[in-house]
Amino acid sequence: MGQKHILIVSQYSLFDQGLRAALSQQPDIEVVGVCRDLEAAYAQAQSLRPDVVLVISGPEIVRDSAFHLMEEVSSSIIRISPTDGSMQVYHREQVDQATLDDLMAAIQTTAIGWKTEQREDLEPEQVESKAGGYPTRRRRTSMKHFIAAAVLVAIVTVLVSIGLGSIHLLPQLASEEGALVDGLFGLHIRVIAFLFSLIVVFTLYSVVVFRRKPGETGDGLHTHGNTALEIIWTIIPLGTVLYFATLGAQQLSQITTQSPEAMVVEVTAQQFSWRFDYPDLGISSAELNLPRGRQILVKLTSNDVIHSFWVPEFRIKQDAVPGMTTTLRITPSQTGQYKVRCAELCGTGHYSMLGAVNVMEPTDFEAWVAKETAPSELAGAELGAEVAKTQGCIGCHSTDGSQLVGPSWLGLYDKQVTLEDGTNVQADDEYLRRAILEPNAQIVKGFPANVMPSIYQNTLSEEEIQALIDYIKSLAE
Ligand code: CUA
Repeated sequence: MGQKHILIVSQYSLFDQGLRAALSQQPDIEVVGVCRDLEAAYAQAQSLRPDVVLVISGPEIVRDSAFHLMEEVSSSIIRISPTDGSMQVYHREQVDQATLDDLMAAIQTTAIGWKTEQREDLEPEQVESKAGGYPTRRRRTSMKHFIAAAVLVAIVTVLVSIGLGSIHLLPQLASEEGALVDGLFGLHIRVIAFLFSLIVVFTLYSVVVFRRKPGETGDGLHTHGNTALEIIWTIIPLGTVLYFATLGAQQLSQITTQSPEAMVVEVTAQQFSWRFDYPDLGISSAELNLPRGRQILVKLTSNDVIHSFWVPEFRIKQDAVPGMTTTLRITPSQTGQYKVRCAELCGTGHYSMLGAVNVMEPTDFEAWVAKETAPSELAGAELGAEVAKTQGCIGCHSTDGSQLVGPSWLGLYDKQVTLEDGTNVQADDEYLRRAILEPNAQIVKGFPANVMPSIYQNTLSEEEIQALIDYIKSLAE
């Protein structure tokens, strides 16, 4: 005979320690494991394949599951009573199936009187199978729990979806491209609701249903490893992520599809204003006016740092990067007044970098174009006010005395201005011209340097520079 593998089943730790020590002295005996109850032994016996299972218990513990254990994985069970030391040996060879069936029947009829610690799923009235019935019964009971949990997951998923859906996380939708974004967003919300329910329901269900009952003192069932479950919880999230990636790629391609009659709008961002040029119409504006129902090809660039063009009602967003042109396609679907926001932290005035967006009916848009392209009758201070608006000067310089990123223009003309180095200069025509063309030459005390772009030498005509000075002059108190 080769070496005997022994699996000990005992709730009495002192007893099994002593036994283990005694057995380890024997050269041809190896203790392969210790379990606290027969259910754990059954789970472990599949992998440990013991020759003998040694059960330290009173006779009432060795019941159907023990015989099943013997039938399936072990040739012998030896039971030792912890109270009187008596011993019973059950050899597989000595118990044929018929005897085992009779024994099971006998155990069932006497089962009512047992007052051992029993798990809910092993209640005597459920004992209805023949020898080897233990796993079948367990499977049936776990199926019951599984169905109950699945129904709860479905209910909680619906409730959480409805709850999240009623919060209205997004503002009004005003573009055709945004409808796709909203669809994807809604799908994410439902998947999130399902995952939340899956985790929370299974956790709470286990806490409530499988809690320790009064009088229970043993450990719970020890299990480790479940290949099927691990494969399932790898495949399903992988599939979900791949599905969303595919859907996202498809929708991105739809959102960026070109329309042949798209209208180009060049958007120039700078600290801290937006300028909108319509190259086909020859219009420059501080407000983004758009006709409803026509695709707009937005070409973005920046004069200084990175900004980001974002109209929440249109849903989509794009960075404006100095030195390059980025694009965005928008088809406005709802007339109304919205705001373009800067979505990239770009400096002290980032929070106030807002621009008006007006979506109008095509006829109203044509009327606006006609008005803008009519020969300008503006001159002097009136032209200066217009230039200040379209060039974005008023994003940093207020005309009402409030302090923004740069000095206010109200009452500035001819005033004594204290510079960063402590000297005073008079804000005359010469000073204002230099402040526009070389903004970093004379920094006013209390204001940051290198904020105003040095681009106006190239972008403003002599007439516009003079008009700006006239406008500032008109604001003198
Ligand atoms: Cu521009 Cu933030």
